Amino acid sequence: MRGSGNATELDRVDWSSLKQLLPYLSEFKGRIVLAVLCLVGAKVASVGLPFILKRVVDQLNSAEANGSPEAMVVLVPLALLVAYGMVRFANVLFGELRDTIFGRVTERAMRRVGHRVFEHLHSLDLAYHLNRRTGGVSRDIERGVSGISFLMRFMVFNIVPTFIEIGMIMILLFWNYSAWYALIVFVSVVAYVGFSVIATEWRTETIRQMNSAESKSSTRSVDSLLNFETVKYFNNEAYEAVRYDENLADWELARRKNRLTLFGLNGGQSLIIATAATASMVLAAYDVAAQRMTIGDFVLINALMMQIFVPLNFLGFVYREMKGSMANIDAMFALLKVDSSVKDQHDAQALVIGDAAIEFENVDFSYQPERPILRGVSFTVAPKQKVAIVGSSGSGKSTIMKLLFRFYDVTAGAIRIDGQDISNVSQQSLRQAISVVPQDTVLFNATIIENIRYGNVDASDDDVWQAVRMAYLDDFIAQLPDGEHTQVGERGLKLSGGEKQRVAIARAILKRPRIMVFDEATSSLDSRAEQRILQAMERVRGAYTSVVIAHRLSTIVDSDLILVLDQGAVSEQGTHAQLLAHNGLYAAAWKLQNSE
Ligand SMILES: Nc1ncnc2c1ncn2[C@@H]1O[C@H](COP(=O)(O)OP(=O)(O)OP(=O)(O)O)[C@@H](O)[C@H]1O
Ligand SMILES: [Mg+2]
Repeated sequence: MRGSGNATELDRVDWSSLKQLLPYLSEFKGRIVLAVLCLVGAKVASVGLPFILKRVVDQLNSAEANGSPEAMVVLVPLALLVAYGMVRFANVLFGELRDTIFGRVTERAMRRVGHRVFEHLHSLDLAYHLNRRTGGVSRDIERGVSGISFLMRFMVFNIVPTFIEIGMIMILLFWNYSAWYALIVFVSVVAYVGFSVIATEWRTETIRQMNSAESKSSTRSVDSLLNFETVKYFNNEAYEAVRYDENLADWELARRKNRLTLFGLNGGQSLIIATAATASMVLAAYDVAAQRMTIGDFVLINALMMQIFVPLNFLGFVYREMKGSMANIDAMFALLKVDSSVKDQHDAQALVIGDAAIEFENVDFSYQPERPILRGVSFTVAPKQKVAIVGSSGSGKSTIMKLLFRFYDVTAGAIRIDGQDISNVSQQSLRQAISVVPQDTVLFNATIIENIRYGNVDASDDDVWQAVRMAYLDDFIAQLPDGEHTQVGERGLKLSGGEKQRVAIARAILKRPRIMVFDEATSSLDSRAEQRILQAMERVRGAYTSVVIAHRLSTIVDSDLILVLDQGAVSEQGTHAQLLAHNGLYAAAWKLQNSE
């Protein structure tokens, strides 16, 4: 819904958002100058119009008074009428030219800002993305970008021109007639603007209520529809409808208040306009009667007054919308100010990777300072070996994987790959070296093959299909009516859990990394599929170092090293045989799983 969510931002607008925009506008300086020239041209033409009209009226008037109608129609007035038509056309033409020329400036600025923010968001750390409101950020970008367009359109095409025009008209009135007319215009414009600003501020509260009611009811309906299945499981359709209607009732009330205050605003504005128009007309009529002015002058003054007040009429609306736009632009630029807590160092070098030995040395880590997750974790994985991490749910296995990928920085200790501390190398080079098959696979809403190719967008078709076969996806794809071009649906929800996992494995293989990390990568597969994939991986085992997180111990008995994690600390480590001989946690778990 338009405007929802500006609510809390409406009152903390500052003009700095305009300053922040400037760099994005400077790309087309020439166009800006041209647009301003067109703007002045259009305004000169529109102010000129009433003057020509006055001349026409006066000519007609004097011709009638002299009683020579034929000459009057044919000669001077005709030329004037043509001039009138031409000036009118010039007014529109300059206006259109200005829009056309300036549109490009606005659109380029919108594109640059949107691109910059998008890039910045992808540079932020995982913690930021986990904390943000779902959908909120993209709404901020969308609103900010359209805010730029609105702001530009109304700054350049409405507010500035209106005031240029008022200035010109006041000067002309002062010059050609008495200072009284200029004074009436001045006082009424000041009163009008002052009243609009004050009344708009006063309405802010009701607008805020309306916006927040709007956004609450839309959040409620989206959330309810997203949880469609849950609603059905618990028979809660009526409950949902009642809750939604409560929000709608708030919204209705807020709209009513808003309409009443709008009535006050519009009424006050109209009163000011009517008073000013009446005052100037009375003055003009008086001047005509006293023969200081012609009928043409009377017409002219009337036309000029109308010319001022028509655009002014929009001012209240424009003022409010502009404040909203600036708040939106501010909110978008605020995204740019968010800093990533995982950053490349100034002189970060690329990771020099050979056979990929991994070393964790006394690693401590916590997501929140109050709750330590990993405590003094130390282990070494020799090049091209397979290390398995096992442990109870919540013991910190996935966390180890995230630290290796540097989604977070360690609190204490160090992680090294081939002897280089991963916090000193560039994130890009580190992540290039590692493929991850995450615990919960989420796919892009695209085709199967596009999702697989995502692992290496430059891969040849042969490589892609080889990865497909290794992940045991070929039989599945062959069954599909659309084959590899089948759409997987939002987040991949049209695939089964096991199929999604296999797509994730295929794209991780396609990346051809030096380090492979599998986080419960085969947990949703049946034993037969799991065996086939494990055998396929076994054949290329020598190509990379692998870290495997698993609950099913039978899949990791062949590991070169098994780490048993208990409450964030390594409680046992060794090979399968060694751990069984040790007769600790691992041996107990092994016995339990075998007895099942
Ligand atoms: N982003 C986060 N913010 C705060 N706490 C987190 C975050 N991610 C994980 N945790 C907590 O850290 C602990 C370890 O989580 P982790 O995902 O590493 O467990 P795990 O060993 O992989 O468990 P599982 O076998 O269930 O996948 C958990 O208690 C979890 O609640
Ligand atoms: Mg996990």
